[in-house]
Amino acid sequence: MNAQFRFSDSISLIRNIRTSGTITPSSKRLIRKLLGPIDFKEARYIVELGPGNGCVTRALLKRMHPECRLICFELNSDFILQLNSLNDPRLHIHNVCASSIREVLDQLDIIEVDHIVSSLPLALIDDDVVVNILASVKANLRVGGRFLQYQYSLKNYSDLIPMFRHVKLKFTLRNMPPAFVYECIK
Ligand SMILES: C[S@@+](CC[C@H](N)C(=O)[O-])C[C@H]1O[C@@H](n2cnc3c(N)ncnc32)[C@H](O)[C@@H]1O
Repeated sequence: MNAQFRFSDSISLIRNIRTSGTITPSSKRLIRKLLGPIDFKEARYIVELGPGNGCVTRALLKRMHPECRLICFELNSDFILQLNSLNDPRLHIHNVCASSIREVLDQLDIIEVDHIVSSLPLALIDDDVVVNILASVKANLRVGGRFLQYQYSLKNYSDLIPMFRHVKLKFTLRNMPPAFVYECIK
């Protein structure tokens, strides 16, 4: 269980199960596996999709270079309040769908990003929205950048293979529920 776990986070996840897709925040072990491929010395722009209570966000901020910016996309307004309380000048939080990456990057004058980290429950999101999100991920990632996504099933794995130069699949039992991690290299 994550050290920053709060009972109210689970309540919020359960209340919004159709968009959260889970009942507990990600474990430290899963977060370590998810963020493992990122070269934090080099990265200057990272996007996070579906930050929720901010457990992955805090881990990113802890590792990030002082000049790196983190741009988050979250639909749930309860979580937006929590994320705003992180109060870090490197953090940009947007209460919009993950398919709006281009619009937000335009507002921030950012051409492309180094990495995109996602906790989105792709298996529960409508197929046409997933198509838009994945197209936007690919279009806004620099060549050589990583799309890092965890999931509880392999439902969208086959969508990713033709989109990226290389897709590595990992798995951890040390999460509730156990999770697959995709490392997709553009
Ligand atoms: C499984 S929770 C992840 C929470 C946290 N990152 C973690 O790993 O524990 C997924 C989050 O994605 C958000 N979400 C779902 N669909 C979204 C979308 N289309 N755009 C942005 N956020 C979305 C939900 O509100 C929820 O907070």
